[in-house]
Amino acid sequence: MDLELAGKSVIVTGGASNIGRAITLGFAREGANITLADLDAEQADKVAVEARQLGAAAIQVVPTDVTDIEQVQRMVTTAQSSYGDVDVLINNVGWDQLMFFMQTSPDFWRKVVEINFIGMLNCTHTVLERMVKTGGAIVSISSDASRQGEPKEAVYGAMKAGINSFMKTIARENGRYGVRCNVVCPGVTIPEGDDEIGVNSMWVDKDNMFTEEQLTRIAGGLPLKKLGRPRDVTGAVLFLSSQAAAGYITGQVLSVSGGYSMIG
Ligand SMILES: NC(=O)c1ccc[n+]([C@@H]2O[C@H](COP(=O)([O-])OP(=O)(O)OC[C@H]3O[C@@H](n4cnc5c(N)ncnc54)[C@H](O)[C@@H]3O)[C@@H](O)[C@H]2O)c1
Repeated sequence: MDLELAGKSVIVTGGASNIGRAITLGFAREGANITLADLDAEQADKVAVEARQLGAAAIQVVPTDVTDIEQVQRMVTTAQSSYGDVDVLINNVGWDQLMFFMQTSPDFWRKVVEINFIGMLNCTHTVLERMVKTGGAIVSISSDASRQGEPKEAVYGAMKAGINSFMKTIARENGRYGVRCNVVCPGVTIPEGDDEIGVNSMWVDKDNMFTEEQLTRIAGGLPLKKLGRPRDVTGAVLFLSSQAAAGYITGQVLSVSGGYSMIG
């Protein structure tokens, strides 16, 4: 089916690496106008080249730290002046380092809260100021760590659970304005190669995330018996972004994790 995303104005945060990169390239294939907001301009520029080759109507890289509300406001203004009202916001930025809670420090907690939660608030609040007049869709990338209680992801999982709850409230508050808000929860989703990630990616030092042995064990425990790849997440995000496909869906949390979470 035609998702009718061609020509739409879409913001993807953290679109330079891994899952965000795949989402950006997914919107490119649909012919969208894309604003790629990422800390890493160099990696984002590479993704922009690929996106143009794949059929993006247009794409601009706006170097942005989503934890800084003023930078976010400038990024959203740039998106609006280049491509018109924002139709779709993808809150994709996230970050963690795997450690037991008792190995972490207050500085680490604050960093996890800022990147995973405050950044999402900054982008959602800024975009909604105008989106309540025009309608649109917001998809936030959470994690199955929000649903399962993952060891070594205590504060991160809590922030992702916060995203799930926040998005349900925002869905209820803004449905009357034609704004749909949904959440996608990936499971372990690893890049296909080093060219798919930039210097700020959590996956730069893969062994710091999971050893090969752990990855094999995780895959074996999943109903679908394989780890996620970034492109596995793209379809769900495009679907929920599409008014044509998902126009009657809001306030939902969808796991894309090979069956790791099954929430009825
Ligand atoms: N990969 C996984 O296994 C997995 C699993 C569950 C959930 N997730 C979630 O999916 C999303 C994407 O994960 P990923 O693995 O692709 O991440 P990643 O670390 O590979 O990439 C994150 C991107 O965000 C950018 N970024 C980081 N901090 C930023 C900031 N303050 N402002 C702007 N840009 C910033 C980085 O430069 C990078 O391009 C995150 O929200 C993550 O929590 C990932």
